[in-house]
Amino acid sequence: MPQTDIDALIEFLRFASISTDSAFAGQVNECADWLVDRLERGGLDVEKYATARHPVVVAKNAQKAGRKTVMIYGHYDVQPVDPLELWDHPPFEPHIDGDRIFARGSTDNKGQLLAHLLGVEKTLAANKDLPVNLIFLFEGEEEIGSPNLEPFLNEHRDSLACDVVAVSDTGMVAPGLPTFTYGLRGIACMEITLHGPTSDLHSGIYGGAVANPATAVAQLAGSLHNVTNGRVIVDGFYDRVTPLEKWESKAWNELPLGDAEMKELTGATSLYGEEGYTTLERTWGRPTAEVNGIGGGYQGEGSKTVIPAESMLKLSFRLVPDQEPGEILALVRKHLAARCPKGIQLDITEGHDGKPYKVDPHCDFGKAAQSALETTFGKPAALIREGGSIPIVQAFKDVLEADTLLLGLALPDCRAHAPNENFSLENFAKGIQLNQHLLAAL
Ligand code: BES
Ligand code: MN
Repeated sequence: MPQTDIDALIEFLRFASISTDSAFAGQVNECADWLVDRLERGGLDVEKYATARHPVVVAKNAQKAGRKTVMIYGHYDVQPVDPLELWDHPPFEPHIDGDRIFARGSTDNKGQLLAHLLGVEKTLAANKDLPVNLIFLFEGEEEIGSPNLEPFLNEHRDSLACDVVAVSDTGMVAPGLPTFTYGLRGIACMEITLHGPTSDLHSGIYGGAVANPATAVAQLAGSLHNVTNGRVIVDGFYDRVTPLEKWESKAWNELPLGDAEMKELTGATSLYGEEGYTTLERTWGRPTAEVNGIGGGYQGEGSKTVIPAESMLKLSFRLVPDQEPGEILALVRKHLAARCPKGIQLDITEGHDGKPYKVDPHCDFGKAAQSALETTFGKPAALIREGGSIPIVQAFKDVLEADTLLLGLALPDCRAHAPNENFSLENFAKGIQLNQHLLAAL
């Protein structure tokens, strides 16, 4: 692939566009400016919109009557980099080793986004036109749950009207195996603080007199699951869950991603989860409750006999159709309140959320996307759902009435959200071709 394409990727990856940390807001904004400049030089009409937090960038070609309008969505914000000491190279100084480029955001989502941008740039340079009316929609808030994007869609509903949306922000089952994702899990997050005594107490003088917030937080975290069968035991949690279809279980069983690969990828000595389902069913088609963080009490060296004044817990729930994030959080609130010991005050803050998504993979646009994948990779596409979430995707359906085609280029070992995140340069090149085949096929 041309060195100029790799140089563009390196430039894009140098911005520390960490959306969650306000200290990096300036870099998020500069990264948006870089996109604006690149899109303008490519010959598109570009608009940058300020939001309550990070900018949205919209770019269009000349829109002509009688052809399909395709929106391509991506996000230019990234996750935080800590633990920094576990990176082999600084996360915002892209490093190439063999086929991989290492940097935060390389796979999620800058590399995949840029492949679309370069595909369009090249088509415009060669043909002066695209086969479709194109709308690029790039946001800087995906990793914080896209809080301002749905209002933005509502506000700009007419100018963002489209027939279909394409997104490359999901994974491939294995290297070289093109993958069409027809479902995503939703998400609902919650932060909990438990307040007990007004200050830390001597655990000898007061142990036995009052409830301990660190004990309580462990009990509450432990109360979410039945340990024996791995099921979530929050009342009503599964009420709206749509069962897996037979063809899905059958197709997933034939994928080259079995328990051995899962063990290898996770490093866990044994797999675990809801009884009665395979690992892929549990991660793609079933909801879960996860403790993302837990803390309280003395964390230093040696022992310290103390009853801590408070403790904390961060929870997230991955949801499947037709679970509703708001409804699930309400059920969890009720569950926790009923189990919180006397003398401990439960403070709950609801975090970001996103609805689950599912599209019929056999619809016309779905078939077109699969044929573009097959042309690009020379093999039929695997049909999967993913466990991760892209909160705005269901909003494309709700607000713009458009289905989303998920054509991911992330490899299983890309280490998204983790140290040494990397993107395959071969997939970067394939992504550029995929964009061109996709627009033609749609
Ligand atoms: N690209 C991911 C979503 C994803 C990951 C889809 C793996 C399929 C497979 C996206 O950038 C992401 O990380 N989303 C967050 C959303 C959350 C912060 C609201 C997620 O899933 O945790
Ligand atoms: Mn991500």
